[in-house]
Amino acid sequence: MPAPIKLGHQPSGEIMSTPSATNFEPTPNNLESFWMPFTANRQFKAKPRLFVSAENMHYTTIEGRKVLDSTAGLWCCNAGHGRKKIVEAVSKQIANLDYAPAFQMGHPMAFQLASRLSQLMPGDLDHVFFTNSGSESVDTALKIAIAYHRAKGQGTRQRLIGRERGYHGVGFGGISVGGIVSNRKVFGSLLNGVDHLPHTFNLKEQAFSRGLPAWGAHLADELERLVTLHDASNIAAVIVEPVAGSTGVLMPPQGYLQKLRQICDKHGILLIFDEVITGFGRLGKGFATEYFGVQPDMVTAAKGLTSGTIPMGCVFVRKGIYDAFMDNAAENMIELFHGYTYSAHPVACAAALATLDIYKEEDLFNRANDLAPYWEDALHNLGMIGAVELEPIPGKPTARAFDAFLKCYEKGLLIRTTGDIIAMSPPLIAEKSHIDQIFDILSGVLKTLD
Ligand SMILES: Cc1ncc(COP(=O)(O)O)c(C=O)c1O
Repeated sequence: MPAPIKLGHQPSGEIMSTPSATNFEPTPNNLESFWMPFTANRQFKAKPRLFVSAENMHYTTIEGRKVLDSTAGLWCCNAGHGRKKIVEAVSKQIANLDYAPAFQMGHPMAFQLASRLSQLMPGDLDHVFFTNSGSESVDTALKIAIAYHRAKGQGTRQRLIGRERGYHGVGFGGISVGGIVSNRKVFGSLLNGVDHLPHTFNLKEQAFSRGLPAWGAHLADELERLVTLHDASNIAAVIVEPVAGSTGVLMPPQGYLQKLRQICDKHGILLIFDEVITGFGRLGKGFATEYFGVQPDMVTAAKGLTSGTIPMGCVFVRKGIYDAFMDNAAENMIELFHGYTYSAHPVACAAALATLDIYKEEDLFNRANDLAPYWEDALHNLGMIGAVELEPIPGKPTARAFDAFLKCYEKGLLIRTTGDIIAMSPPLIAEKSHIDQIFDILSGVLKTLD
């Protein structure tokens, strides 16, 4: 017999479910088995923070407290929570076609979704490869880049260039081109043949700038230095986040992305934008590529694609790249030996199509654009993302921001911290009153920090 239901957590870390958490029937000490990702497991399990439901802009905790979501989950729930249209589409789909093999078979919605997605992209970025996450999208794009050059008879182009402070997920490709030391340092030698551009953040030069900083476009010239060092004939691709997210919302300096594009063009290097965060309206346009008017050769996406409801990612690929693979193989042969069991999963496709409908019907990308100036009055931002960098406590990096995170949570606000940076990216359905509430709580908490 299960123990009687009680509210709240027990001092031992045991969780007792609320009456509303119908599917959650924890037994004593059941927190142990789940090895939580990117989490201080022992700290969490000693004092857990559990959500049991979500609607629109709020989560509800297991104790029944409402928590305002200033982070769209993990930068993903752009349409807000508990959207009926998505729930219905997913329920219908799982009853109708729960799964279809992804290799050598298809289902209509995958094609429908790919063509709808390609309409969101400028120019000839009109082919879509489906994955299940941002990490898979990144590793897919890197593999396509190397294989593309080989298909074009330039098989020596294998080197990949990322950027310091870049986050590209957790696959071996992604951590190799990524530039966050803690995500790399304990995982061995990573991929060979990877270089990094310098990051573009400079507090002295960029302090108090609004929008895109005027200083820093010259940092793109570092790519020329790497070309001089290795020769372009050995370089496959450069990957950057148009706006770096996970290390604190770093804006590209004015002209920087344009310069990267020019240098890549000059040397036949593919340019990949990692838009796992910036995609699907976050900057007030469909994608950063539209926002900045710079067209890369591939765009990686995930998160907002299904508004976080079902895991799904994708890579947008320019027609010329797709064609190179088609031209390089006999017609009855597989052109790219890559893919996932769950690529274009029917249930994920249903969620994505319903999400795109919501974005369109509610004009959420323009809504984000309209809200951005209000958000900017409170925070250094671009579109609907922004961050606050705290000075670390000497000898205790991350502690100050984590303290802010815990205090905000207690006061009913979910924020995201990375290092000593607080990053925020609310669902695009936010009202001005939510923004006021976010900054009321946050500024109150900041005043109480050591
Ligand atoms: C820019 C970027 N790329 C890749 C990823 C990895 O995505 P996922 O966690 O879905 O693998 C993230 C996740 O935050 C991201 O921000």
